[in-house]
Order: sequence, then structure tokens, then C-alpha cells
Amino acid sequence: MTNLIFPDAASYQTSIKGKTTDLYLLQNSKGMKAYFTNFGGRLVALYVPDHDGNLVNVTLGLQSVAAYQQPTDVYYGAIVGRFANRIAKGAFAIDGNAYQLTINNGPNALHGGEGGFHQVVWEVIQHDPQSLMLFHLSKDGEEGFPGNLAVKIVYTLTDENELKISYEAQTDQKTSINLTNHAYFNLNGEGNGDILKHQLQLFADQFTPTDGTAIPYGNLENVKHSPFDFIQSTEIGARIQENHEQLIFGNGYDHNYVLGLEKERNLNKVAIAKGDLTGIVMEVFTSEPGVQFYTGNYMEGANTLNCGKKDFRRTGFCLETQHFPDSPNQAHFPTTLLKPEEVFKSTTIYQFNA
Ligand code: BGC
Repeated sequence: MTNLIFPDAASYQTSIKGKTTDLYLLQNSKGMKAYFTNFGGRLVALYVPDHDGNLVNVTLGLQSVAAYQQPTDVYYGAIVGRFANRIAKGAFAIDGNAYQLTINNGPNALHGGEGGFHQVVWEVIQHDPQSLMLFHLSKDGEEGFPGNLAVKIVYTLTDENELKISYEAQTDQKTSINLTNHAYFNLNGEGNGDILKHQLQLFADQFTPTDGTAIPYGNLENVKHSPFDFIQSTEIGARIQENHEQLIFGNGYDHNYVLGLEKERNLNKVAIAKGDLTGIVMEVFTSEPGVQFYTGNYMEGANTLNCGKKDFRRTGFCLETQHFPDSPNQAHFPTTLLKPEEVFKSTTIYQFNA
């Protein structure tokens, strides 16, 4: 396979503000391999067997920690928090106390701010052949959020060819939390063209339309008779150029879908995606109520991927499981409030077969 280049550990071994970064490998009995770095808690590469048993790297990653520190697209494979997606004007209130976050996306706050979890050197609590446990204590006031928040992430590679991500968090003050992983997928293999001919089935009959700054209006819109309908498996690119206001605002698909249409294993079934060239299938499940379907509309070839190719437009897509954008300001959305007496828990599974 042309893209069978494994990340080189030395390129991920450095020190940032006195904390050590490294590369970590998980492997299962089926030959799957997943590489992570604790810088941003990132998935760096994910090797999945195709129908001939050849490994294909189905996620987009960069070749070193230094590359991940460049400002062009800082979210590759990262843990995103404290609040994944946008909060309007970076402002919200809890019990009458107003909080102001860093504004880093037009007029809004995106993905936990410039110093969000994607920039954190996570502490490695445990690493064994099939799991990696990461920890971060986010201090009261970090990026404007209230409360000391202790966050634990566990990545597990199961023998059922699943990459499972478990999130857990506790706070000492009421706060708002929305965690995701920002992996980009290309089921034809990293660097192997764009994702527009991938097939996608999304188990959602509603999405949250947004204004021109990607903040939800607040209504849930039915996908029927629109290019947002992926209830039947459809090519990702079949309708992406349509003259639809939401596609224009998003520069393509960049929208939160409302999950719950189908359940499996006590989780919301999110999607089934298939690479047209490899036949590799990815199924996604989550305990979260939403997913951001993002087609890499702002990728512009500014980064070099693990395979040596550039990250051109739409050469990866994301299914970021999450609570809805701007939830702290939209009381009718599922709540993102976390109280001191509660434990935040969330699970997402990406399962592969050929
Ligand atoms: C957002 C996009 C943003 C991208 C950055 C996505 O989650 O919805 O608007 O450009 O992250 O990687």
C-alpha cells in the first residue's frame, strides 16, 4: 500500500512547558494499529485491514508534534474541549454569573479557545497494548470557563476492530462542557484523494440550521427533500454544490445532526461510511445527542500528512460526536451544564470492517 508509512516516534518526543510528549501505539489481535500523541490527546494514525488484509491508514495526521503546533488546522485527531463547537460571542451565564471566553472564530468561541484541550500536553496515566488513559486538570478560569475540571480520556482498541473513546469529567463549580474528538477520516486511505465519492448514511432526520457565523438559530429542521438527507446511503459529494443557504453558510457540510433515530448497543447509531476505492466501512455509535458532520471545507493543502501528501480541500471528513453547538445559550437543547455532584460520562465508538 502506498500509504503504509508508520509515524516515527522521535518526531513526537519533545517537551512543551516542561511536559514531555511522546508517541503511543495500540494494537489488537486483528492487526489494527492506532498511534496517538499526548500532545492534544491526538489520534495520529489508524491502520485498518482492507478486504485483502492490507493495512490502510484511514485517518489524517501530521508527522510531528511541531507540525501539530502550526496554526493552519490545529484540530487533527485532537481531543476538543472544554466546549467543542461554537458558543455565540463566547458568552454564557450560569446562575446569573456571566462568563466570557476567548473569541477565536469570527465573533464566536470555537473548540475551547486557542489554548483548548487540543493544545494541552495530557498526562499519560496508563498505557497497555490495547488502551491509553490520558488525564488533564483544567484550571478554574482556563480560557474563561468556570471551575477546576478534571478530565480523563480512555482510548481502547478492541478485538472487534473498534476504536472506543471514553470521556469522564468532574468539576468543583458549575460549568459547561462538551467534549469530542476531531479525527478526520478518509476510508480510501490518507492522501488518497478527496472524500466526495464516499458513501454515507447518517441516522438523523433533523439538523440544527445556523446563521452565517455557524451559530444554530435554535430550531430543528427536518432533512427531508434537502441535501442534508443522508437517511439512505448517499455519496457525500452528490449534493454538496447545491445552491442551499445552509451549504453556502457552511462552505459545504459543517452541521450538527440530531441523533436518536436508531439505537444499537444502548448507544445512538450515528453513521455508516464506506470508502469507494477500498470498500472499508466505518460505523459510528455514541452516547452523545448530536454529531457535527464536517467535510473539511477549510482544508487548503497547508499541512503535510503522514503519507507525505498535502491536506487538500475535502480530503477528510469528520463525524464529531457532541452536544449541540451553543447549548449554554439555548435552554431547549440537551444541557451541557455540569454540576459538582455529577460525573460527566460519554462514549463514542468507531468500528471498522472491509
Ligand atoms: C468546525 C468547522 C471548523 C473545523 C476546524 C469543525 O468542527 O465545525 O467549522 O472549521 O472544525 O477544524
